Amino acid sequence: MIQKFDFTSQPSILVQGAMETETDYLTGQLADAVCVTVGNWKYTTGFLGERRVPVIVSRTYQGMANAAAATALALTHFAPCAVINQGIAGGHAKELHVGDLVIGEKVVPMGAVMQEFRPEGDGIAPLGFTPLFLEIYDKEKAATEKVFAFDCDERMVAAAGTVKTGLRVHKGVLGSADEWNNQIDWIAVMRERYHTAAEDMESAAVAQMCRSFHVPFIGIRIISNSIVNGEEFDESTALLGQKFVADYIGELRGFLG
Ligand code: 5AD
Repeated sequence: MIQKFDFTSQPSILVQGAMETETDYLTGQLADAVCVTVGNWKYTTGFLGERRVPVIVSRTYQGMANAAAATALALTHFAPCAVINQGIAGGHAKELHVGDLVIGEKVVPMGAVMQEFRPEGDGIAPLGFTPLFLEIYDKEKAATEKVFAFDCDERMVAAAGTVKTGLRVHKGVLGSADEWNNQIDWIAVMRERYHTAAEDMESAAVAQMCRSFHVPFIGIRIISNSIVNGEEFDESTALLGQKFVADYIGELRGFLG
């Protein structure tokens, strides 16, 4: 007899993607899939792979606010043990090509900036900014902390390195904002300031929620376009990224208690 598993109280892993093409393979791999609606977001619970790892697949939709909302709802409703934000990304580093994978060691909200003052008529100075902290409320400490970047969970990063894959795998910094940057000199500034390997539009927002809820987080992205190498957008890379993540989830047993 199959035991009844309760995703709202038993340990599971939350894996997210913004678009249908970034979640469809993972959803299709789930055994005993059940669709659950929480607020305005849909989640699919089920069991992944031979080990039947309890997984919640979440389609967040694009952008920081969507990703944060989908995460906060899932963390509240399901209380997962770990969160994987995955999908496609734009390459910042020249050594990254379309189809390469980036394991996030750190994610940076690169859109959070404080401009230097300039008086009226003095023109605009795009480089005149410093990073602006994000405020995170810690319920246990009843205090806020100011955060500029989020480290991905060390154990989750280490586990990503053990996955057997034909992909070229890099570790590095993911920069996130509601931005799609195409100016090579601007990307160079992001690399200089934040050491970004790649950019996306969700992972830092998810990391912010995970930090607030004290849940381990990792961002994993596959390069779908690289303006710095003149490589055009190839959305089909989303499937290869999901296949990696499906294998990766099999390595995360330790997080399930
Ligand atoms: N810049 C920003 N986001 C990108 N994405 C893929 N490439 C880029 C890029 N160059 C991701 C985002 C978003 C969707 C457009 O794909 O995370 O969800």
